[in-house]
Amino acid sequence: MSANRKDDHVRLAVEQQRGHRGHNEFDDVSFVHDALCGIDRCEVSPATRFAGITWDHPLYINAMTGGSVATGAINRDLAIAARETGVPIATGSMSAYFRDESTAGTFSVMRRENPDGFIMANVNATASVEQARRAVDLLRADALQIHLNVIQETVMPEGDRSFSHWSAQIEKIAAAVDVPVIAKEVGFGLSRAAVLALQDMGVAAADVSGTGGTDFARIENDRRDGAQYSYLDGWGLSAPACLLDSQGTQIPLLASGGVRNPLDAARSLALGAVAVGVSGGFLRTLLDEGVAGLIARISAWQEQLVALMTALGARTPAELARRDVLIRGDLRAFCLDRGVD
Ligand code: FNR
Repeated sequence: MSANRKDDHVRLAVEQQRGHRGHNEFDDVSFVHDALCGIDRCEVSPATRFAGITWDHPLYINAMTGGSVATGAINRDLAIAARETGVPIATGSMSAYFRDESTAGTFSVMRRENPDGFIMANVNATASVEQARRAVDLLRADALQIHLNVIQETVMPEGDRSFSHWSAQIEKIAAAVDVPVIAKEVGFGLSRAAVLALQDMGVAAADVSGTGGTDFARIENDRRDGAQYSYLDGWGLSAPACLLDSQGTQIPLLASGGVRNPLDAARSLALGAVAVGVSGGFLRTLLDEGVAGLIARISAWQEQLVALMTALGARTPAELARRDVLIRGDLRAFCLDRGVD
C-alpha cells in the first residue's frame, strides 16, 4: 500500500506539473526596476548562512520520495544531480523505512551517490525521538526535516486524525537530535502563527512550502474514485504570502512551493527567505529529460540567479531583501487583510 502510494504521488505530481497553467502568487511580486543598480558579477556571492548551516548557493532540491523500487531509482538520480551541481537535497518521508527496514536502500542511496553533499532526512511529526535519530543515522544526514501535512492526512481516508501531539513531538525531536531541525509544510504554507509556534518549539528553521505548485489535496483526491474532498483543491497560503505574513519573526525561513524559475527564487529571497526549494518542477525535469536534463536545469538556475542578483545589485542573498518590490493582486489583498506593511 505504502509503496503504491509513493509511486502514485510521483505519477500524479508530475501530471500536475505538466498541466500547470503558469500563474501563481509569485507573479504578484515584482522588483522596482532600477537601470543603474547593477554591479559586477565577480562581486556576487550566492552563499547563504542560517542556523549554523552554510550553503554555497541558496537553492535546494526539496523532499520527495523513497520507499519503493521505482522511487529508490528516483532518489539515486536526484542525488546524482545534487552531487553534480552541489545543491543540498532532502529525501522523502522515511516512514516507510520505520515500517519496513528492507526499504532502507531506497533512502540511503542518496548518501551513497552523494557522499560529501548536504543531505536532509525527513520524518513526520509523529516520529519518535528514536526514529528521528535512526533517520539521521541512516543518511548520515546534515539536517532533519519534519513535515507538517495536516490537510494531506485529512484528505487520505487512511490518514491521521489526531494532530494535537505534533507540537510536543517536534519540540522533543528538536531538543534531542544532533543536527539542525527544519520544520516544513508540504505545499499548504505556514502562517505567522505556525512560524511563531515552531520558533517556540526550538526548531532551527522553517520551510514555508506554500501553494501554487504541487497540491497534495488534489493528489490525494486524484488517487481514488469519487474525490471526496475535491473542494479543498487550492487550500492554503502561497510561499510569498507566508514570507510576508512572517516578516519580523526570528527563525530563518526557507521558501518552497510553486517556485517555477530563478525569478521566483529571487522574489523569495527579496521577501526574506534564506534559501529556495523546488520539488515537483525538478521531478518533472528528471522524468522527462533524465539526470543530464536535471543537472543542466539546476546549473542554469544557479547561473541565472547569480545573473539576476548582479542586475539587481545584490552582493549576497540577504542584500536582495533590501531591494524594493511591488506587491499586487491577491497578494496585496492578503497583506491588507493581515495588516502586513
Ligand atoms: C513531496 N513533498 C514531500 N514533503 C515532505 O516533507 N515529505 C515527503 O515525503 C514529500 N513527498 C513528496 C512527493 C512528491 C512526489 C512531491 C512532488 C512532493 C512536498 C515537497 O517537499 C514540497 O513541500 C511541495 O511539493 C511544494 O513544492 P513544489 O513541488 O511546488 O516545488
